[in-house]
Amino acid sequence: MATLKIGIIGAGRIGKIHADNLLRHPNAEVVAVSDLFAGPELEAWAAARGIGLLTKESADLIHHPDIDAVFICSSTDTHVPLIKQAAQAGKHIFCEKPISMEIERTEEALEAVRKAGVKLQVGFNRRFDHNFKRVKEHVESGTIGVPHIVKITSRDPSPPPEAYIRTSGGLFMDMAIHDFDMARFLSGSEVVEVFAQGGVLVDPVFAECGDIDTAVITLKFANGAFGVIDNSRKAAYGYDQRVEVFGSKGAVAAANDFPNSAVVSTEAGISSDKPLHFFLERYAQAYEDEARQFIDSLANGTPVPVDGEDGLQAERIALAAKWSFRLNRVVKLDEIAELRSLQAN
Ligand SMILES: NC(=O)c1ccc[n+]([C@@H]2O[C@H](COP(=O)([O-])OP(=O)(O)OC[C@H]3O[C@@H](n4cnc5c(N)ncnc54)[C@H](O)[C@@H]3O)[C@@H](O)[C@H]2O)c1
Repeated sequence: MATLKIGIIGAGRIGKIHADNLLRHPNAEVVAVSDLFAGPELEAWAAARGIGLLTKESADLIHHPDIDAVFICSSTDTHVPLIKQAAQAGKHIFCEKPISMEIERTEEALEAVRKAGVKLQVGFNRRFDHNFKRVKEHVESGTIGVPHIVKITSRDPSPPPEAYIRTSGGLFMDMAIHDFDMARFLSGSEVVEVFAQGGVLVDPVFAECGDIDTAVITLKFANGAFGVIDNSRKAAYGYDQRVEVFGSKGAVAAANDFPNSAVVSTEAGISSDKPLHFFLERYAQAYEDEARQFIDSLANGTPVPVDGEDGLQAERIALAAKWSFRLNRVVKLDEIAELRSLQAN
């Protein structure tokens, strides 16, 4: 297998994770990194990893003759222009979620990818989580019969900073988008209806930013099954990521992951450590596997495991959830275009 040369655009929290995972891959080489804030700190970071080129200009990577693929790990508002430029330059693309916060712009990006004939994988890392993957395998093999209910609990250990909340796109687009993808993944069916309720129970700063911090979302799937997602920006006991699929022959569930399995039993009670702290810890293995499978699909000419259409569908569900919350009623996915045109007029 030939070594694939990779450029990373955006070396923040997630870009650095992908870079380190790719550096461990025997058939990938991170040859360049671009970041608007490339300075002495990032120079030291890149030098320590033997990354030869660090630049502020994403175009230096996109037009680099040796680079086969780019990882777009910059802020969400940059994804669509970067996807279009990279596709036009013939580079394969891994793009972090969401592709964008407006589905027309996501559609434009997907069109550019189709025209160029390059591959695009979207960063829905939870599909690669060792627990959730096992749940999916049981659903697919029929262990639990026909799925009737998908339950997803997704609660963060603490809210993000105010600056992040203001530009995040809101709870449905920023946080629940992973759960919408997980709902499609686990049910094996498309979401056709959404009812979303939410409020501000954690911190008034969410209201000041026009956002919510707590939500309960119900879904109806095309195959007749139902889904329930509950989200909170703050769980006092840590990052809470659990799923269950209940079906005609039983149920399969995945609990939280813990840093250790020690359980302390005393007169005062029984206790253990809190779950793995947050996404970087809980999904470390998932980030590594999604990058590895992207490289493998480029090397073998096979389809990427999560594509642009998956990115678009999750965004459509997020948009339906936004409308449902705003109108306080069930919203059908095929109503979205009409609701958006009403808003425009
Ligand atoms: N899949 C996941 O679990 C996951 C987790 C976190 C973030 N994300 C997504 O990853 C993206 C980045 O999030 P983050 O938390 O790493 O943010 P971050 O702020 O830590 O890093 C983003 C970096 O991109 C750089 N940047 C911005 N515009 C750029 C441009 N045009 N060219 C080059 N560099 C540019 C910034 O300087 C910054 O260093 C977001 O889209 C976010 O939604 C996904």
